[in-house]
Amino acid sequence: MISLAKPFFDEKEKEAVSRVLDSGWIMQGKHVADFETSIAGQCGSRHCIAVTSGTAALHICFMALGIRQGDGIIIPSFAWPSAANIVHLLGAMPIFLDSKTSDYNLNVNLLERIIEQAKSDGLRVKAILPVHQFGAPCEISKVLEIAAKHNLKVIEDSACALGTKIDGQQAGTFGLAGIFSFHPRKIITTGEGGAIITDSVEFAEKCRALRNHGNLRSAGLNYRMTDFQAAIGLVQLSKLKSILSKRKYIIETYLEILDGQDGITLPEYLSNSGHSAIAIQTLMVLLDKDIDRDKIITRMAEFKIETNSGAPAAHQLPIFAKTSDTCPAASELHKQGLALPLHAAMTKEEARKVAETLIDLISPKTYQEPQTVELETCLAE
Ligand SMILES: Cc1ncc(COP(=O)(O)O)c(C=O)c1O
Repeated sequence: MISLAKPFFDEKEKEAVSRVLDSGWIMQGKHVADFETSIAGQCGSRHCIAVTSGTAALHICFMALGIRQGDGIIIPSFAWPSAANIVHLLGAMPIFLDSKTSDYNLNVNLLERIIEQAKSDGLRVKAILPVHQFGAPCEISKVLEIAAKHNLKVIEDSACALGTKIDGQQAGTFGLAGIFSFHPRKIITTGEGGAIITDSVEFAEKCRALRNHGNLRSAGLNYRMTDFQAAIGLVQLSKLKSILSKRKYIIETYLEILDGQDGITLPEYLSNSGHSAIAIQTLMVLLDKDIDRDKIITRMAEFKIETNSGAPAAHQLPIFAKTSDTCPAASELHKQGLALPLHAAMTKEEARKVAETLIDLISPKTYQEPQTVELETCLAE
């Protein structure tokens, strides 16, 4: 099976974990502190707080902002729904922003309208969470400009974007804080894991306390990373450059074969000005509307190729769904998006097989419209 993702481990991670296990100190300790220093150094940010997942990082950030009932937080719909769930669990309201089908990132042209609407609905709009979707940078400078005008805090969801630079600056370092995920599908992994980066000493202190039971002075959580996870993270971080270049090599192969193919649209940042500053975490392509994406996923699996839909459209999830489709572009991305295998251990031949199988499956010769089953037939069975 050519899998969607695979951690890029070698003996170094195993040795690092063994050393921590042998030391007898496995909880948050020296390795977590070193990992935090290394992430902060890599990103050029003053503080880093390592936690148990990207979701935990978002939870801590929203708690540190004091988000509560009656508050509204702007979140792009087309993204993993961690932020939307947390906002909901804190009793606040996720306000979903639509995306662009060209690069799957938030549509900044709709931002002010959404803020005004939420205010007139009686919500206290407190923050915006721009997501650098799949590692591709969103239009952060425009987001910051609008956020400043409306006095909104900006927490960047850079879960997928470690290594992505915007004008030479790491994604996640533009707002009050940024978060990363170290889930196995991300650029580097610690099994599960996450981190918050910020330049604000005050915000960092709040986050550190929230990670550890409020340091017994206020309410808090246990979101501490273990030292053996951090030891893996340190090795992974030392390989970041080579992981990114191996992934780019695979992306180039996809690009050579898929660019310009009928029925398949690539994100525009791939074909445009070059993508050397983007750490692409998921390569999602958009299939034409007349192609049944789910059928393609099933057929690809028959050829031992794992694919899936790129991300949910959070505004359509049962807890958030309204009767009208408020984010049609996000809905289309969710329905027609196809995420292709992408990881540092993949070979050019594997990428070639994935791309050629996909082209073959959607070509009119191979592709057949799914049969509509007549109601009468169903009843008869
Ligand atoms: C954009 C985004 N934000 C947050 C998360 C949550 O990270 P984690 O799985 O580490 O909780 C993910 C994970 O897929 C993500 O893609």
